[in-house]
Amino acid sequence: MGKNLNIAVLPGDGIGPEIIDQALAATKAIAEKFGHTLTYEFGITGAAAIDKVGDPYPEETHQLCMNADAVLYGAVGDPRFDNNPKAKVRPEQGLLKMRQKLGLYANIRPLTIFKSLIDKSPLKNELVDGADFVCIRELTGGIYFGRPQGRSEDGNTAYDTCVYSRDEIERILKLGFEFAAQRRKKLTVVDKANVLATSRLWREVAQEMRPQYPDIEVEYMFVDNAAMSIIQWPKRFDVLVTENMFGDILTDEASVISGSLGLLPSASIGIHTSLFEPIHGSYPQAAGKNIANPLATILSAAMMFEYAFNLKEEGNLIREAVEKSIEQNIVTADLAGTGKAYQTTEVGEWIVNYIKNK
Ligand code: IPM
Ligand code: MN
Repeated sequence: MGKNLNIAVLPGDGIGPEIIDQALAATKAIAEKFGHTLTYEFGITGAAAIDKVGDPYPEETHQLCMNADAVLYGAVGDPRFDNNPKAKVRPEQGLLKMRQKLGLYANIRPLTIFKSLIDKSPLKNELVDGADFVCIRELTGGIYFGRPQGRSEDGNTAYDTCVYSRDEIERILKLGFEFAAQRRKKLTVVDKANVLATSRLWREVAQEMRPQYPDIEVEYMFVDNAAMSIIQWPKRFDVLVTENMFGDILTDEASVISGSLGLLPSASIGIHTSLFEPIHGSYPQAAGKNIANPLATILSAAMMFEYAFNLKEEGNLIREAVEKSIEQNIVTADLAGTGKAYQTTEVGEWIVNYIKNK
């Protein structure tokens, strides 16, 4: 039986609108093919929303997200703000506010290798072939949100605070254990327990929880070591779980293993509506040029079918279409090498046709 799929679509800034168009086209094609009724509504966020209403995540957008079954999200960020350290509101604050207000405490970032792209990886083939891990990044705590944050009165000192409560740590570690249980049963808890008090609490909580999951192998790794090991021997990892900022950094690093930052999708889940977004940013230099790689966003739509709607077959068909497009070299400039570089829209259209004709 077909389902009703009600989606909030937040394109954001830079290449956001272009990649979202393609992900939405793939979503429509899937809904049609499988007999689901798709309704969607656009919301403003990021610099686009600051320009319009002075707020990067306005209440109206929040209500739209709250009332939807899933949020499909492009990217935010704009050089006008990056180059202005004194800007009062920043597009990224919208993303952070949204994560907080929707209670999106877990960000799931899987790394999958497409066989046909192995030569694009900066790593040697034998290191990359067969690598398959998921990074679970805590998303609503840590130094991103800890208070106090700011400047001293004279402006010459600045501070951020890293804060984690036991509850916050427990709920994200639980997810890490559960993911590992569904996979190859290995969990790597990444921290900096040799330096940070928050990391020591993470480790303490993980050690307390461990007996509940006797068949999971748990290892603890310092983040600097993890950064090295991810490129030295990526196949050793199954599930990594870590705090907000470590997860941010490690997943950008991990993403290039697959050959391009433009390939990695993510799902953010938590208390309210789940959200699906590529892990890359708004790539303002490419905005409006029809050259951005839409695959990370299209793959985020695949995760949306799987996680938000429990429609695995639908998600898999999107993944299959993406894999075939890569195999056939229907790829954007970041992946084309010396071959033909296809436009964003051409890649998206190819994928839609694949879905329709399957
Ligand atoms: C990400 C991004 C964001 C983050 C920025 C845009 C605030 O880099 O989703 O990884 O740091 O979380
Ligand atoms: Mn990031």
